[in-house]
Amino acid sequence: MCGIVGYLGKKDAYPVLINGLRRLEYRGYDSSGIALYNGDLEVHKSKGKVDDLENLIGEKKISAKMGIGHTRWATHGEPNNVNAHPHVSNNGDLVIVHNGIIENCNSLKQLLLDKNYSFKSETDTEILINFIEYVQAEEKVSLDQAIRLALNEVIGAFAIAVISKKEPSLMVVARLGSPLVLGIGNGEFFIGSDATPFIDLTKKVIYLEDGEMAVLSNNGVSIRTIESDEPIDAVIHKLQIDLNSIEKGGYNHFMLKEIFEQPTSILNTIRGRLFVSNAQIRMAGLDKISEKLEKANRILIIGCGTSWHAGLVGEYIIEDLARLPVEVEYASEFRYRNPIISSDDIVIAISQSGETADTLAAIKMAKEAGACVFGICNVVGSSIARESHAGAFTHAGPEIGVASTKAFTAQVTVLAMIALYLGRGNGNLSKDKFQEIAKEIELIPAKILSMLDLDDKIQTIAKSLYKSNNALFLGRGFNFPVALEGALKLKEISYIHAEGYPAAEMKHGPIALIDENMPVIVVAPRGDMFKKLVSNIQEVKARKGIVISITGYGESEVKSLSDGVIEIPETLDCLTPLLTTIPLQLLSYHVAVQRDCNVDQPRNLAKSVTVE
Ligand code: F6R
Repeated sequence: MCGIVGYLGKKDAYPVLINGLRRLEYRGYDSSGIALYNGDLEVHKSKGKVDDLENLIGEKKISAKMGIGHTRWATHGEPNNVNAHPHVSNNGDLVIVHNGIIENCNSLKQLLLDKNYSFKSETDTEILINFIEYVQAEEKVSLDQAIRLALNEVIGAFAIAVISKKEPSLMVVARLGSPLVLGIGNGEFFIGSDATPFIDLTKKVIYLEDGEMAVLSNNGVSIRTIESDEPIDAVIHKLQIDLNSIEKGGYNHFMLKEIFEQPTSILNTIRGRLFVSNAQIRMAGLDKISEKLEKANRILIIGCGTSWHAGLVGEYIIEDLARLPVEVEYASEFRYRNPIISSDDIVIAISQSGETADTLAAIKMAKEAGACVFGICNVVGSSIARESHAGAFTHAGPEIGVASTKAFTAQVTVLAMIALYLGRGNGNLSKDKFQEIAKEIELIPAKILSMLDLDDKIQTIAKSLYKSNNALFLGRGFNFPVALEGALKLKEISYIHAEGYPAAEMKHGPIALIDENMPVIVVAPRGDMFKKLVSNIQEVKARKGIVISITGYGESEVKSLSDGVIEIPETLDCLTPLLTTIPLQLLSYHVAVQRDCNVDQPRNLAKSVTVE
């Protein structure tokens, strides 16, 4: 997500800001920019990477002792030069960088439009800086007071840094819901969304708390509450972490960080969309195509890799809850095989990056055939998001590790909400059933959080697998796609040959592979298929296979048959993929680490596959 940097002191601010922005790149972003005070305000911003920003600035000599910078991951408005931060107020006096979302930006904008303010960008941030300018002019107060008063009117999340043309050595920062750290140097201050940008320049930090603001100046730092202007005693912490680890948020790899982020990413996926009490799914994209959905004969789901696996889970859930026929296809096959597409079809295209070439081409083909395309993407402003008639963002946050983890569970969560929407809409899902499922979805983040404690145990289990050359993953029903996903995760990051199978298909061929050297990972949560899976485990064990089971707490029979057991919390059958996937991600991760593989950038793979 967005990153903020800032500097106020005696050094040349420009290199501090540019280096800081580079350190924030891991967060994922689509544009960047800086503003410097050198008697006037100088603002440079560019779509793309920090390299693009540097190229834009070129050899130009920028000398300034104060400045702010930003890497932007688009939320309000597509990634382009205009929407990139910093944003300047109408009178040209104030400039801001912002991380977060101002939820009441439309009403603030209307107020400002009525006062003849104008806007260049589509961002909520430009509205905020103009609102601050307006408050300062109306109330005739100092900059910090204007910011404080303005922020008291704001609903939403923010971490901001503001500088002013009229205040050569003053920076005001504030936070609510988004992180902000102050670095205390020798007669100088740094700010960052985390300490990454200045970790080599000072080890002394103040973590600004929610609802606090800080005024940084040549006289020092003063911290107060945003609400009541009460002074706060600053607590200075000493940074213990080195640059490498902080870039990955303290995790050894982005993949592990992203696995651990899933309680939060799923919360973000469902926030503002899932309403238990009135049995409602609010998704603007679905409402937009509601007439098409009412008439739909079937749903076609297309995607590649992990996104295709999410689509398979979606097929099971949508058919189960909404009783609407669903077909799932690899986008790469679909686009070339002359499929039958009708104007009454809804095509759901799933893609984390929103840039996968085959999925994009398949969408174009479906549109030409008259189908309505609904995109499920993680990256705002991506090609697939723009090409779709309607859609839903997964809101999982940037996924940097090449192996998809949190994007998968977010995609499945969106598909589950689509199933609820359709089922309720076509009358196949009772209000009670809807509420039962919706309540369970709300519990999933906490259940995943509790499962993350399994990490040490899974690391130990991985030790029994990491020398294997092959592995088989078995699952049934809702967890057959999870078996496929588990196999994909293992093969792509550890280079162990792995296959996923529906457990009952084992008898039709793969059982011939089983001997004392074959690890078989069985996804056997409690639910309708549980007894059948226990029989499948027995079949593997009878042939001396090494069984690793993912099952419910205290399943003694499974335990006695297994060489390794991972016990997970219970949930409704249709939601089990959201839980069973987690230990498989961790298992692949630890096997890959133990094999000394490049977990985040496995050989031959790219995060966004833009060629077919
Ligand atoms: C696997 C993985 C890939 C992607 C696939 C589609 O971990 O990441 O299989 O799922 O390349 O990418 P998106 O979802 O960006 O279209």
